[in-house]
Amino acid sequence: MHPPKIETQGKVTTNFAARLVRWQKQHGRHDLPWQNTRDAYRVWLSEIMLQQTQVGTVLGYYARFLERFPDLRSLAAAHEDEVLRLWSGLGYYSRARNLHRAARIVIAQHAGQFPCELNAILALPGIGRSTAAAIAVFAFGQRQAILDGNVKRVLCRFLGVAGFPGEKVIETLLWRHAESLLPERDPETYTQALMDLGAGICVRAQPRCAQCPVRTDCVAHREGRTAELPLPRPKKAYPEKATVMLIAIDGGSVLLEKRPTTGIWGGLWSLPEIDLGEDLAAVCQARFGINVRKLATWADLLHSFTHFRLRITPQPLQVIDLTPRVEHPGQLWLPVADALGAAVPQPVRLLLTRLDAIV
Ligand code: ADE
Repeated sequence: MHPPKIETQGKVTTNFAARLVRWQKQHGRHDLPWQNTRDAYRVWLSEIMLQQTQVGTVLGYYARFLERFPDLRSLAAAHEDEVLRLWSGLGYYSRARNLHRAARIVIAQHAGQFPCELNAILALPGIGRSTAAAIAVFAFGQRQAILDGNVKRVLCRFLGVAGFPGEKVIETLLWRHAESLLPERDPETYTQALMDLGAGICVRAQPRCAQCPVRTDCVAHREGRTAELPLPRPKKAYPEKATVMLIAIDGGSVLLEKRPTTGIWGGLWSLPEIDLGEDLAAVCQARFGINVRKLATWADLLHSFTHFRLRITPQPLQVIDLTPRVEHPGQLWLPVADALGAAVPQPVRLLLTRLDAIV
C-alpha cells in the first residue's frame, strides 16, 4: 500500500495524465458534434448545454440550435423568446438567457470575436471557472484545469479526499490538485479523458473500476471506498426551537388560543405560547386580562417536526383574578374535558391529559 505520488506544487510524479491520455485515444469519445472544431461559438454552446445535462439529451438540441443560429452574430441578433423556444425542454433556462446576453456582449465588447483570454471568458454571463477553462482548452488549445461535478468525483476517489466537494475548502483543495495533475502537453485529449472517465467509468453508482486506466493508483479503489467517496452534502443541523406553553387554570377551565392559519399547527386550538424570556405577568394581563400566580413548571416536552424540534416548557398558572373575563376572538376558556375534545396538537393533548388528572 502506497499513497499516490501527487505533489500540489505542479510537479506530477504519477503518470495519471499519461495513462488517461492513452486511454482516451483508445476508448474515449471522438465524434461528438462539438469535437474536432476550434469554433469557439460551437464549443461554448456545447459546454453551456452540457452543464447539468447529459450528452444524449444535448445532441438534438445542439443540432437544432446551430441550424437556427449558426454563428454568434445570428444568436445576438435574435429575440430572447426564440432562443428560449429552442431551449424549451432542456431546462435551466437561465443558461439560455445568459448565452443570449453573452453573445450580445461579445458583439459589443469584443468586436464579435469570442475572447480567448481565460478571465475575459470568465467575465461573460453564465460561464464559471470550469466552463471557462473547458472553452479555453477546446477552442484555443490552452492548458487550463477543469473541475466540474464529474471531475470532482474522479479526483475525490483517486486521491482519497474525504470531504464534501461542494464545501469551499474541499473545492479549493481539488482545484489545486486539478492544476497539479494537468500535463504539459495535449491538454485537449487530457481534458476530454477526464470528462469521458467521469461520464462513463468513474460514475457515481457502481463505477466500472475494472476498465479504469488509473485504478492501480486510485485510493478509493484500493481501499474499497468507491461507494463512500465523494462524501455527500452534510445533513443540515436539526435545529431546536423553544417555547413556553401557558396552562392557565381557572377553576376547572383552561385557556386555549387559536393558532394562526399558516405555520405549524395552523388553525388548531392550542395552549397560549410565550417566548422563554417574556414577562409572564405582563403578557397575561395584556393578552388575556388575567392576573396569575406561577405554579411549578412541568418537565420540558420535545416535539419533532420534519425540519426542527420544538422544546416546550409547560408553565401552569393559577388565575387569581380575571378582570373581567372578556373572551377575545381566538381565545376560549374551556373545561379541561371539553378542551381535550377540541382540535388540539398532539403535545397539547398530552399536557391537557396530565392536567385533567389533577384538576
Ligand atoms: N461535458 C461537459 N463538457 C463536455 C464535452 N466537451 N464532451 C463531453 N461531455 C462534456
